[in-house]
Amino acid sequence: MTQTDGRAGVAVAGGIAELGAEAERARTAYGEGALVVCDQVVRIYSGEGIEVQALQGLDLLIEDGELVAMVGASGSGKSTLMNILAGLDTPTAGKVRVAGLDLGLLSSRQRLTYRRTEVGFIWQQTSRNLLPYLTAKQNVMTPMRFTRHSRRYCALRAMELLEVMGVAHCADRTPSRMSGGEQQRAAIATALANNPRLLLADEPTGELDSATARDVFGALQTANSELGATVLVVTHDPAVSAQVQRTVAIRDGRTSSETLRHDSADELGNATRHAVEYAVLDRAGRVQLPREMINPLGMRDRVRLEAEHDHIGVWPDRPAAREPGYRARPRGRHEAVPDDREEQ
Ligand SMILES: Nc1ncnc2c1ncn2[C@@H]1O[C@H](COP(=O)(O)OP(=O)(O)OP(=O)(O)O)[C@@H](O)[C@H]1O
Ligand SMILES: [Mg+2]
Repeated sequence: MTQTDGRAGVAVAGGIAELGAEAERARTAYGEGALVVCDQVVRIYSGEGIEVQALQGLDLLIEDGELVAMVGASGSGKSTLMNILAGLDTPTAGKVRVAGLDLGLLSSRQRLTYRRTEVGFIWQQTSRNLLPYLTAKQNVMTPMRFTRHSRRYCALRAMELLEVMGVAHCADRTPSRMSGGEQQRAAIATALANNPRLLLADEPTGELDSATARDVFGALQTANSELGATVLVVTHDPAVSAQVQRTVAIRDGRTSSETLRHDSADELGNATRHAVEYAVLDRAGRVQLPREMINPLGMRDRVRLEAEHDHIGVWPDRPAAREPGYRARPRGRHEAVPDDREEQ
C-alpha cells in the first residue's frame, strides 16, 4: 500500500528512525564488556577477477581473562581473523572491537600504538617471531623501546619475562642457537613485553614435536594465568584444544560450534573433565548444522523444524532419505517415493 497521507509519512519516518535506533542499541549492547567483540565480520579478498569470502559474517565474543583455542579446516578463515584482531588487516564489513577500541576507526598512528601496546602476536614460523641478529633478551627489549621506560627497567623486565617463560638460559643467545621450542617461548616473552591485554598465537606449535608443543602451550597458559593476558590460540593439535576451557570452531568463515569444558570432582576427590559441544546460534538465528549430522540424513537445501516445549526438532524435507532405494519424485515435488512405487 502506498502512503500518500503526510501524517502517515511522518509516522513511517518515525518508525524507521525508531527501528534504526533499536538496531544501533542492539549493536552497542552486543558484547558489551567483552574484551574482543567480532560483530558480523566480513573479509573478502579480491584480485585477478577472483573473490574469496574468507570471513562471512563472523560473530565472536571473548571475555577478559579467557584462554580460547580456535580450530577449523585449512582455509576456514582462522589466520584472516587473527590478522584483523592483530591490527594487520581490516575487515571488508562488520565491526571489530578490542579493549573498547573500534579497530575500523583507528587512524594509522592509533593502529600502530594498538599493535605495540594492546596486542601481542606469535606466528607459526619460529623464524618470523624474533630478529635473527639480536639475542633473546634484546628481542624482548625491542618493543619496549617505544615506551618511556628506562633501559634498566626494560632489561629487568625482559629477564623477568624470559624467566617466567622458562628460557632465561637463552637470554644471551641469538635464535639460531636456540631450539624451536625455546624460540617460541622467547617469542611469547617478546609479545608480552608491553603487557598487552590480548595475546594472539596462530598455530604457534605447528612446527614443533608434541613434547615441545606442550612446553610452548604451557608458556601460553602461564601468560594467561600468571600474567593476566587473554589468549586466543589457533591450533590443529587436539591435545592443545583439549586442555582449554573453550574451543571455538570456524567453518567457512563463521564460528560454527563451541566446546566448553569443565572439571568436577566426585566424593573421593577424583577429577573428571566434561566437554560439551554446542552449535553457535548467531543473532540472526542462524545455526550451522555439522556435516557429520546432516550428510547421513541427506539433509540439503531445506529442513523441517518443529518447536517442542523444550527443544526444536530438525527433519529432512524428504523423510525417506535414509532408506535404501530412496528416490525423490521428479517435477519439483519434494515428497519421497520408494523405487517400487515409482511414477510411470
Ligand atoms: N591475501 C590473500 N589473498 C587472497 N585470498 C586469501 C588471502 N589470504 C587468505 N586467502 C584465502 O582466504 C581463505 C581463508 O584463509 P586463511 O589463511 O584465513 O585460512 P586458515 O583457516 O588460516 O587456513 P590454514 O589452517 O591453512 O592456515 C582461504 O580460501 C585463502 O585461500
Ligand atoms: Mg592459517
